[in-house]
Formats: sequence, structure tokens, C-alpha cells
Amino acid sequence: MKVLVTGTAGFIGSHVAQVLLARGDEVVGFDNLNDYYDVSLKQARLARLLDKPGYTHISADLADRAAVEEAFATHRPARVVNLAAQAGVRYAAENPHVYVQSNVTGFLHVLEGCRHHDVQHLVYASTSSVYGANRAMPFSEHAPAEHPLTLYAATKKANEQMAHSYAHLYGIPCTGLRFFTVYGPWGRPDMALFLFTRAILEGKPIKVFNHGHHKRSFTYVDDIVEGVVRTLDRVPGKDPDWSGQHPDPATSGVAPYRLYNIGNEQPVELLRYIEVLEDCLGRKAVMEMLPLQAGDVPDTEADVSDLIANVGYRPVVPVEEGVANFVRWYRGYYGV
Ligand SMILES: NC(=O)c1ccc[n+]([C@@H]2O[C@H](COP(=O)([O-])OP(=O)(O)OC[C@H]3O[C@@H](n4cnc5c(N)ncnc54)[C@H](O)[C@@H]3O)[C@@H](O)[C@H]2O)c1
Repeated sequence: MKVLVTGTAGFIGSHVAQVLLARGDEVVGFDNLNDYYDVSLKQARLARLLDKPGYTHISADLADRAAVEEAFATHRPARVVNLAAQAGVRYAAENPHVYVQSNVTGFLHVLEGCRHHDVQHLVYASTSSVYGANRAMPFSEHAPAEHPLTLYAATKKANEQMAHSYAHLYGIPCTGLRFFTVYGPWGRPDMALFLFTRAILEGKPIKVFNHGHHKRSFTYVDDIVEGVVRTLDRVPGKDPDWSGQHPDPATSGVAPYRLYNIGNEQPVELLRYIEVLEDCLGRKAVMEMLPLQAGDVPDTEADVSDLIANVGYRPVVPVEEGVANFVRWYRGYYGV
């Protein structure tokens, strides 16, 4: 099967591409290698893909309509996984426009490509951030998520709604995946685990927001990748039990459309996550305790009962194992 995967120089996209290639799929990767964070890390992830048979790379911007059209017209992918996006919740304070360019305009170009080239299934990344101000735990896809706290979350929520409209109008099966805080080898330098590891190894203090008391469904990257690949193989249809009187947000009666959470069911307190990291590094962190940051949610907890029932698996890797794998990779990659 030929799969167009966007964001293949990124953290999750590079892992997804590796797994698809390993099972024999052809992968057309698409990434602009922008400088939101260290470009050499993106190049290193990409280098591991470029030397594999079955991988073709397109270096272009999703916001470039002609480039996306050409990618679809030239390669005619059977299925598409959209992972390229402007990620991160805080960068929007200085760079709001890039979120709309990459995540909204770029996503529209992907939907248009799927529409005009008979794509059988579009799987795209959403985020647990769409739950925003919701406090009913665990977060369920069946609950409304109408109160985003960041522009990032708002653009991801827009993706879900744009996907629903295209699934309805043009019959493109679409599955949106709400990832919960992903970590692991080849991770993102703007995320806590990476920042903490670097600071602890350099003997510098780490910023611990909310005094370390918030809990997160920290989810190991292999668990996320398994979810992406499994859902890619499960093309959704219309839900015959859906009712417009009581519209379930996770499915649809008027479109082949599905939303799934992918997150670890066991939330872990930030202080415990740091303790696990200290054990793996064999060093203590110097912690600078700070209040909760604007736009951050106090806790996240994933309800994955639909993932278990329909997709046949649950994220299982505990932080003790996942953080150890990250530290092993970090030490090897940076030679520290
Ligand atoms: N990592 C997490 O914890 C997490 C949680 C929830 C959702 N997500 C979502 O998962 C997806 C992958 O995230 P990630 O952590 O791998 O991030 P990442 O930043 O490492 O990867 C994204 C990749 O997309 C590329 N990209 C960005 N904008 C582009 C554009 N306009 N055109 C072409 N390429 C572009 C970047 O260069 C990067 O390589 C994103 O959609 C993100 O929003 C991630």
C-alpha cells in the first residue's frame, strides 16, 4: 500500500514511517523541516528513512497549495496520515499565524488532495488539548469538547470539524486521533522530558510548573504508533446508531467519521515523572517550583475504552520503561 505521511522528519511521523516501511508499505514522506526546533534533529530522523527502500521524500510546506496538489497527483497515495502541524501550545503567543497556515490551511490542502485523488482513508493527528476546560475525568471522545484554552487546540478542533464536513460531502473516510502527551526516543526538544534531561545533565535547574502536581496520561511513542497504524487499517463507516437528536461527537450518522483518544490510562503526577527521570539519569534535579502556566490544563486522563473495543489494543508502556528508553537514546545520540 502507498501511504502519504506528513511530518516524517518529526518525532511521531518518523516513527510511523519506520513501522509502515517495516511492514512493506511504500511511504511518501512530506515535511518542510522548519526551524521551530533544532533542524539537525529533524535531518537525523529523516536520514534514517532516506536510506530505506520504499521511502520517497518531498520537502515542501503544507501551506503551499500547488506543492500538496502535486504530491497527490504524482504519487496517488491510497491512504494518508497527516501528522505535520505546528505543535506546542506556547509558541502561539509570538507566532499565531503559523498555526493557522500549517494546521488549518495546510489541512485544507490535505483534505482537497484526498477529495480529488480518491484516497481511501485519512488518519490525522488531533490532541488531548481539545478537552481544554473540561474537567470530567477521564476525558472521553463522546463528551463535547467546546472550550479550547489555546490557539493550538482550537486549530486541532477545527481539523476535526473540517474532516467531518469533507467526510460528509465527499465520502472520504476520516479518523482523528487525540494523542495524549507523547514521549520517547527521538522526542521533541520543546517538551518537558527533553528539557529536563538536558538541564539535569548540565546541572541546571528545571522549571516545574504547578509545583509538579498535575497529572498527565504520558504516552510512550510506540503505543501511539501502534494506534496510528491499526486505525489506518480500520476504515470507518457511518454509524447506524448515531442520532442527530443526541449527536455523539466521536462518530457520525452522516459521514464515515471517527475520533479516538490514544493515551495511557494511568496518569502520572509530574513529580513522579521527574523522579523516574532522576533514577534513569542517576542524578537529582534542581527544581524551580512555579505556578500553572496560562493555557496549561491541570490534569489529563485518557478514556481509551473505544480504542480497546474497536481497535483491539491499549497503550501499555509504563513511564519507568519509556523514560529509560528515552534516556538511553538521548545519551547515545548526544554522546553524554
Ligand atoms: N508530541 C505530542 O505530545 C503530541 C500530542 C498531541 C498531538 N500531537 C500531534 O501529533 C503530530 C506530530 O507531532 P510531533 O510531536 O511529532 O511534532 P513534530 O514537530 O516533531 O513533528 C511535526 C513535523 O511536521 C513538520 N511540519 C510542521 N509544519 C509543516 C508544514 N506547514 N508543512 C510541512 N511540514 C510541516 C515539522 O517540520 C515536523 O517535522 C502533530 O500534529 C501534533 O500536533 C503531538
